[in-house]
Amino acid sequence: MRIDIVTLFPGMFQGPFSQSMIERARKKGLVQIHFVNPRDFSSDKHRKVDDRPYGGGPGMLLQAEPLVRAIESVRRRDSTVIFLSPQGAVFNQATAESLALEKHLILVSGHYEGVDARVLRYVDKEISIGDYVLTGGEIPSMVVVDALIRLIPGALGNLEGARAESLRDGLLEFPQYTRPAVWKGRRVPKILLSGNHQAIESWRKKRARTVTRRKRPDLLAA
Ligand SMILES: C[S@@+](CC[C@H](N)C(=O)[O-])C[C@H]1O[C@@H](n2cnc3c(N)ncnc32)[C@H](O)[C@@H]1O
Repeated sequence: MRIDIVTLFPGMFQGPFSQSMIERARKKGLVQIHFVNPRDFSSDKHRKVDDRPYGGGPGMLLQAEPLVRAIESVRRRDSTVIFLSPQGAVFNQATAESLALEKHLILVSGHYEGVDARVLRYVDKEISIGDYVLTGGEIPSMVVVDALIRLIPGALGNLEGARAESLRDGLLEFPQYTRPAVWKGRRVPKILLSGNHQAIESWRKKRARTVTRRKRPDLLAA
């Protein structure tokens, strides 16, 4: 998979994208991530890409021309262009799973007070990472990249890990424990030490439903 991230601030991605699972996936060649800076497509001699909104109001908007030229510079026939926006459909595991099947994603990060609305004609989907407003689309782009890369076969050391996780079947994950078997007087459930895989599997299914009912009843209702 190839991901092009359109951003005025590529430096923001350096830390998160050069550590842990994302770095490993890049090194293994499972994903190629590139950055496109709209400033490189500005016709202004100072590489300016923003201006005041028509009709008045606070702040500055990203101009359509440099942003669309940046998108078009990397668009292919099989590209899906996503604008990260608080106005988009709220991102969830099902969306991550469908995006993980794409060949080429272009993630467009807005900034300042947002973007000229005419840019939206060049976008296939708008995605929000939650009902709150952030300063820019960079952190939302990182969230989307992280969630979908871990679904690419081979990205996680243990693929089973991704399969059993929270939200895969609309349920939260069952409680997990590791050594020691007794800690501060609290014991790991006996069944997990029994070696009976069928019984463990059925215990986990039951506990996943109990945890979901307690913490996220909305998921069960859905
Ligand atoms: C300050 S916000 C602009 C918000 C815009 N004025 C509005 O009300 O829709 C700047 C940029 O941050 C990004 N952004 C902010 N909150 C977001 C969210 N919850 N999900 C995805 N992107 C977000 C978008 O790219 C947006 O263009």
